[in-house]
Amino acid sequence: MRVLVIGSGGREHSLVWKIAQSSRVEKIFCAPGNPGIGEIAECVNISPEQIPLLMKFAVQEKIDLTVVGPEAPLVDGIVDEFRKNKLDVFGPDKNAAILESSKVFTKRFLKKYGIPSAEFANFNDYDDARRHILSRSKPMVIKADGLSKGKGVFVCKSENEALDAISAIMKDKVFGDAGDRVVIEDFLSGEEVSVLLFTDGKTLLSLETSQDHKTIYDGDKGPNTGGMGAYSPVPFMTAELSSRVEKQILIPTINAMNSEGRPYKGILYVGLMMTEQGPKVLEFNVRFGDPEAQVILTRMKSDIVPIMQATISGNLQDVDIEWHPQSSLCVVMTSGGYPGHYVNGKEISGLDQLKDRPDTQVFHAGTKYLNGKVVTSGGRVLNIVACGNDIREAQKRAYDAAGNITFEGVYFRKDIGFKAIVER
Ligand code: AMP
Ligand code: GLY
Repeated sequence: MRVLVIGSGGREHSLVWKIAQSSRVEKIFCAPGNPGIGEIAECVNISPEQIPLLMKFAVQEKIDLTVVGPEAPLVDGIVDEFRKNKLDVFGPDKNAAILESSKVFTKRFLKKYGIPSAEFANFNDYDDARRHILSRSKPMVIKADGLSKGKGVFVCKSENEALDAISAIMKDKVFGDAGDRVVIEDFLSGEEVSVLLFTDGKTLLSLETSQDHKTIYDGDKGPNTGGMGAYSPVPFMTAELSSRVEKQILIPTINAMNSEGRPYKGILYVGLMMTEQGPKVLEFNVRFGDPEAQVILTRMKSDIVPIMQATISGNLQDVDIEWHPQSSLCVVMTSGGYPGHYVNGKEISGLDQLKDRPDTQVFHAGTKYLNGKVVTSGGRVLNIVACGNDIREAQKRAYDAAGNITFEGVYFRKDIGFKAIVER
């Protein structure tokens, strides 16, 4: 088989790494890829937004399976376009991708079908949003309606923080059109967990659990980012809790999407808060999480390609997934200043020293070649992923490896996995 993976982050590097292990696959292309991906696949200089060019490439190169990493092309309808041309593509179509592209749609959908989630109100007028903020108790959570790379959510402890957030989103338009509307939600407290599942619209196959670390600073402090690190499995997600999540949230969601005439096929990422009243949905994403993919895929024993094919053909009922019992942990190394302003082009050293560690993978994200050297080229630069017999061992190996990497301004959290370790 000839496979095309779309995207250039750590998630896509881990997808390419996993797909490369499939006995069905002869050749992998990645558009546009990155220097790490380039070591195992052929990188093609087409960006994920250039859907007509991607399609032309897939036809010319006789691609048997296209795997879409990021949300933007899914939201723009890449799956619909590829299907029109009879190309097999993994991911939801545009109608189903609305679960990620509009928080207002999603909140209304959850309410309509009685799927547990925080109480909310939505606004397209600044003054109305302001009045609502003044009338509600704090903390509260303010979200830009549209896509904003994981940065459009503000957990506000005070009235001033909340007013600053709507001002940034609705007046300064820091997320562009994504901020035409805002959702204002009640604050939920509890433990967060990411549950990802394959679904063909009929059958649902959950992946192992993982937990992201969304904020920039240790101890879950500071602004939200795309994700600073993750681990899998999550010890508090017992079989009983997982089955409750499946019954109360996952199955109702897939059924409700069918009822809405938006059947969902692909990976669905369900961000949950485990509150005292039970699990509640924080968000849906219509693709693998980043960095959740990096820890989940390093634990997946089964070949991922037949699972993706069964998702597309509607035969997921015949599939099972086997997992490595080991734990996996990912530390994300970022450019200094991220998630705010940062400077690219810093030379990265130490990568060669990590090449032959059997338990450690380095997945590239914001990197590129400049004059034959690998330099930084984004906020999230590298993902150091290590496996171990438990989270503590995986954590130790990941941080040992991270200690070998240097670039000017490098920053990473020092506490990834802390919740899983404290519990022991
Ligand atoms: P989202 O992109 O909607 O998942 O939001 C990003 C992060 O903000 C989540 O992972 C949570 O940490 C936090 N968050 C979002 N909604 C809420 C909420 N209603 N209560 C508490 N925290 C939230
Ligand atoms: N790690 C969160 C996300 O992928 O959206």
